[in-house]
Amino acid sequence: MTALVCTALGAVLLPAAAQAADPPLRDLAAAKGVYIGNAVAGGKLSGNTQYAALAGGQFNSLTPENAMKWGSVEPTRGSFNWAEADQIVAFAQAHNQQVRGHTLVWHSQNPSWLTNGGFGATELRGILQQHIATEVGRYQGKIYAWDVLNELFNEDGTYRSSPWYGTLGAGFVADSLTWAHQADPAAKLYINDYNVEGLGTKSDALYNLVRSLKAQGAPIDGVGFQAHFVLGQVPSTLQANLQRFADLGVDVAVTELDVRMQTPSTQAKLAQQATDYGTVVKACLAVTRCRGITGWDVSDADSWVPSVFSGYGAATLYDENYQPKPAVRTVATALGGTPGGGTASPSPSATATPSPTATPTPTATSTPPPGGAGCSAAYTVPNQWNTGFSGSVTVSCPAGASLSNWHLDWNFTAGQQLTQAWSAVCTQTGTHVSCANAAWNGAVGPGGSVTLGFNGTWSGSNPPPVVTLS
Ligand code: XIL
Repeated sequence: MTALVCTALGAVLLPAAAQAADPPLRDLAAAKGVYIGNAVAGGKLSGNTQYAALAGGQFNSLTPENAMKWGSVEPTRGSFNWAEADQIVAFAQAHNQQVRGHTLVWHSQNPSWLTNGGFGATELRGILQQHIATEVGRYQGKIYAWDVLNELFNEDGTYRSSPWYGTLGAGFVADSLTWAHQADPAAKLYINDYNVEGLGTKSDALYNLVRSLKAQGAPIDGVGFQAHFVLGQVPSTLQANLQRFADLGVDVAVTELDVRMQTPSTQAKLAQQATDYGTVVKACLAVTRCRGITGWDVSDADSWVPSVFSGYGAATLYDENYQPKPAVRTVATALGGTPGGGTASPSPSATATPSPTATPTPTATSTPPPGGAGCSAAYTVPNQWNTGFSGSVTVSCPAGASLSNWHLDWNFTAGQQLTQAWSAVCTQTGTHVSCANAAWNGAVGPGGSVTLGFNGTWSGSNPPPVVTLS
């Protein structure tokens, strides 16, 4: 049993820097019922401690930046290299993070044996099926969502030329989804693209495709909006566009967010960038089926932008020294953090509204811990759908009380099953769920709070459990 330590710690003992006093972005996101992620490279996770600390500490979802692309995993035909992808999945599991798999079918970063193979339709179809079955099968049960298809369209809404479209015709889209679904029926299957974030011709083409895939019964679960933005140019129709896709009955997510500016950066540009990041987070939160936001690269030192967009850079949340930029503050604030530092006060958010098929039951229970010092745990389910739900538990202490570590217990009396948890180490045995703090979030200061998030399944009813904090 984890000991409860409630003492009258003064604020002077809290970390001095306002930033350090803030809850991690991942906890704020979890309290809002969304995830916040980033794109990562395996070599940096193991070779750069500042990078790894941000990647593991601030985010509850990771996307391999390159490691799951075809050219990375199958550089020569039939010879697979899973080392970096495995490493990232293991890192994510060790940090209670979910993984977005990226990407199975794309026109870019393919091995030359594939692009130059001159394969006929039958052979190419077999190659594609085999690739999807092998890669999705390898990570079955470990990937929350796959970007099955990436960047299908030209700017004018026609299909981009690729070996897939050229040789197989448009049927490769539904086929790819079907093969991925067979290999991992629980994974959410996405189509991902850029310049589709606002209303427009290309976005219309994607919308029409998703609508027709749904009509055909193809296993399409979500649409990813890359969101590689230019400073000050977040489309004003972002939220409306996300909503119209969600209204088709799919999840939506911001999958590769960055906001590039002409370098060098200035305070004014960084302030605009902060506004832009905040706008994107708010748009996602305002759309019930927007599941989360993934940034593209941890820091400006890691960003793909300078090498691709000449004269541009400074596109991420953290600067070249891994220090938070002003945009971290606007993201935290949009996620319910308190401007100027301090802790989150989770509140009912836009994400707490019902999704089209949902009967959500936002709930909260609070049980004073032994000793009665006033620290408490609040359980809430902001998102619930036909068979699943996502929830969070926020452990809070009033002024004058604190915890050095925490442990939560509850019973799921209606057969609910925990499938995933983050920002805590949770196990379920029978109906009993037991969660301990993660290595980095055991301390809850006076007036502070931490939040763990989880996903689960339910049927029949989903009553809130009584949570015991110890
Ligand atoms: C980029 C990576 O960030 C770079 O390291 C790599 O050299 C090229 O690809 N859209 C996508 C991502 O879907 O996979 C791309 O990632 C960025 C654009």
